[in-house]
Amino acid sequence: MKKILSNALGTREAYQLLTSSIGPRPIAFVSTSNKNSVPNAAPFCFFMGVTPSPPTIAFSVMRRGETKKDTIRNIENTRDFVVNIVDENLANAMNMASGSYPPDMSEFDVTGLTPLKSELVTAPRIAESPIQLECKLKSILDLGDVQASIVIGEIVCFHFKDGLLSDDGVVDIQKLRPIGRINENVYVRVTDFFEMNRPA
Ligand SMILES: Cc1cc2nc3c(=O)[nH]c(=O)nc-3n(C[C@H](O)[C@H](O)[C@H](O)COP(=O)(O)O)c2cc1C
Repeated sequence: MKKILSNALGTREAYQLLTSSIGPRPIAFVSTSNKNSVPNAAPFCFFMGVTPSPPTIAFSVMRRGETKKDTIRNIENTRDFVVNIVDENLANAMNMASGSYPPDMSEFDVTGLTPLKSELVTAPRIAESPIQLECKLKSILDLGDVQASIVIGEIVCFHFKDGLLSDDGVVDIQKLRPIGRINENVYVRVTDFFEMNRPA
């Protein structure tokens, strides 16, 4: 075993170890709206479910240098957002949306994706995404020397593409075809499955 003490690591090295050790990671394609109502979309793979009651998710937004990313500024302002799940069809648009664009340039225009009005939040959904989770902000936790904001949101409305949900209320993963991120430019498709029974 190779031992690496964290206090010997630079930010870049720590980031590489973190992202290549913890993977594949699901991708939250987060759509928000800024104070001029310009719709914004960006992917975040430091992303997880937190609790089912109430349904809650969390994701982390790091600073771009000293500057806050559009996503966190918009969420602080509107206090809501939508997490759009990324399938293989959305991969290219998601990647394009990860570029650093000025706040008033919409990733929807850059990518050709379609903003769709939400039921309960001001942020738009991404019409092309097979699962859209409308979220209201619960809290933001700021951590780290390289500042990262953990955004915790309560899902107030789920949207599923027709045919994706089985009668027993489970998403058919083979129809969903989600992608995950490994590191930098490396992604995975979800194509290989096996089952195990849990112990009593
Ligand atoms: C697949 C993928 C996952 C990403 N995950 C994160 C993440 O978890 N946290 C983060 O701060 N940036 C992440 N990024 C980078 C942001 O998407 C990027 O900084 C984006 O420009 C932010 O846009 P915004 O300024 O519109 O919020 C990721 C990029 C890609 C391609």
